[in-house]
Amino acid sequence: MAMKTNLEKRTGRREFLQAGAAGLALGVLPQGLRTAIAADPSLKIGVIGSGRIGSTLGGIWVKAGHEVMFSSLDIEHDKALAARLGGKARAGTSREAAAFGEVLLMAVPYAALPQVGKDLGELVKGKVVVDASNPIVARDGEVATWAREKGAGVASAELLPGARIVRAFNAIGFSRMAEAAQRPGERIGMPMAGDDVAAIAVASRLVREVGYEPVLIGPLAMGKYLMPGTPLAGENTPDKIRQVAASLK
Ligand SMILES: NC(=O)c1ccc[n+]([C@@H]2O[C@H](COP(=O)([O-])OP(=O)(O)OC[C@H]3O[C@@H](n4cnc5c(N)ncnc54)[C@H](OP(=O)(O)O)[C@@H]3O)[C@@H](O)[C@H]2O)c1
Repeated sequence: MAMKTNLEKRTGRREFLQAGAAGLALGVLPQGLRTAIAADPSLKIGVIGSGRIGSTLGGIWVKAGHEVMFSSLDIEHDKALAARLGGKARAGTSREAAAFGEVLLMAVPYAALPQVGKDLGELVKGKVVVDASNPIVARDGEVATWAREKGAGVASAELLPGARIVRAFNAIGFSRMAEAAQRPGERIGMPMAGDDVAAIAVASRLVREVGYEPVLIGPLAMGKYLMPGTPLAGENTPDKIRQVAASLK
């Protein structure tokens, strides 16, 4: 049986699952779940891949008060990163980060995702996984070709069975994300795709904390448009994202 996340324990698993089944409109989230997600001061986040995107987003979430465990293939790098960030940052192996996080950020080269899926196995079951990883053929080879044919979101779901995947943070450069919160005058949207309403709500909160307005473009199958080189790539206003997404359906 899938392990209960702390978020589920705090809100009640039944309510959490009902929320997931309820459809994609965030407005249908039960009040208790909405309150828990919005008001809980601190989430436990496991970062799988603490490179440019993982360290940038994880660093922002540490500053926002979350407990973040960073992981990669280089524990010394992650220990130094956690020490530099202070707060509630820590370092561990990818299995430790996956066990620690009620929410996971997947930020590895797509070529690593099949191995990551095998390494983490049961640990991702029932977890909210924010999937920033992109299949780039020139970098990731065959697995990227396969994933692009299948659609990036659906492919990630196959490689991480049981995870509640939300695609987000895919096609804006990490350096722009690092400073997004310092540009409060601009309303920039973050396109997201997912099938699980409760997971989308958690990811939306994390997107807001990075400085973007979450814009759900549709189910996980729409995740195929969330990667560099598509009409949704780059920074766009929420209205523009909705307009472009509607033309893709
Ligand atoms: N860079 C961007 O602006 C950006 C923006 C949006 C999305 N993305 C996507 O996010 C993903 C990461 O990009 P990045 O630029 O952050 O890459 P990166 O700087 O190369 O970082 C990749 C991270 O993944 C780790 N890793 C690799 N294989 C692993 C494994 N088997 N298990 C655990 N960790 C593993 C690496 O660890 P080691 O360093 O120890 O090898 C490193 O920490 C890519 O899919 C990319 O397309 C990137």
